[in-house]
Amino acid sequence: MQDFAGKVALVTGAGSGIGRATAELFATRGASVIVSDVAEAGGRETVSLIEAAGGAARFIRCDVADEAQVAALIAEAIEAYGRIDHAVNNAGIDPELTPEPDWSIEKFDRITGINLRGVFLCMREEIAHMQARGGGGTIVNTGSFASYAGVPNKPAYSASKHAVLGLTRSAGLFYARQGIRINAVCPGGVKTAIMADNLGGFDGGEQMVADNHPIGRVADAAEIADAILWLSGAATFVVGHGLLIDGGLAAG
Ligand SMILES: NC(=O)c1ccc[n+]([C@@H]2O[C@H](COP(=O)([O-])OP(=O)(O)OC[C@H]3O[C@@H](n4cnc5c(N)ncnc54)[C@H](O)[C@@H]3O)[C@@H](O)[C@H]2O)c1
Repeated sequence: MQDFAGKVALVTGAGSGIGRATAELFATRGASVIVSDVAEAGGRETVSLIEAAGGAARFIRCDVADEAQVAALIAEAIEAYGRIDHAVNNAGIDPELTPEPDWSIEKFDRITGINLRGVFLCMREEIAHMQARGGGGTIVNTGSFASYAGVPNKPAYSASKHAVLGLTRSAGLFYARQGIRINAVCPGGVKTAIMADNLGGFDGGEQMVADNHPIGRVADAAEIADAILWLSGAATFVVGHGLLIDGGLAAG
């Protein structure tokens, strides 16, 4: 299936996990992909994987929390490929689980700086570009199950992901008439580096997270990438939506 042939997709946090799986899937389905990440090695590895599979990709380093770097990312992407049709604002962090909520302002600023400010900055540049082209395009943000639910010992993370849903809904409403469709994916547990970092050395941590999901396992990054591509392509009547992909968590 080459349903994204001739299209240009930008994925942040594409050096690993969900972002990498999304970048690879876009490339498999015909898009030219801008792979962006703050981590250069991971980003370049994603490009190599895409090229080895016969796809087209280019790495642009960017810390999404930095306003100037985000502006430069979008400018460089447009210079390279002429336009961006599909943006996926996926870069995010989820610091190690602590027994008690961590109320340090440094942690709060770091988490919201990347998870919320980063998405805000990327959306602002992407929307301006899509409008300048006369409208049209899609944006998918990576929220979380924590966009819908509080997490007892992670107030800042949960707040940042609730806010991503607020940005998605608000901008989704405003720009729908300009043909810019804005949605979010809201995953439950996904087996990626973030999950490993998050659980630290916690023995049996992944099994505990899996057991917590009604489906009895965590997701593979490819299952989230599938949903991101659906929202970017076939989901032509879906606007301002936060799509839960949570193995049944929210049903309980
Ligand atoms: N894994 C899960 O269980 C899970 C669940 C719900 C939501 N999410 C969300 O999915 C997204 C992707 O996470 P993942 O699970 O693939 O984890 P991951 O750690 O594998 O990937 C995150 C990527 O973001 C990059 N990144 C971090 N800070 C950045 C910054 N300032 N600028 C640019 N890039 C930066 C990292 O280098 C990394 O490559 C995150 O927004 C995360 O909150 C993950």
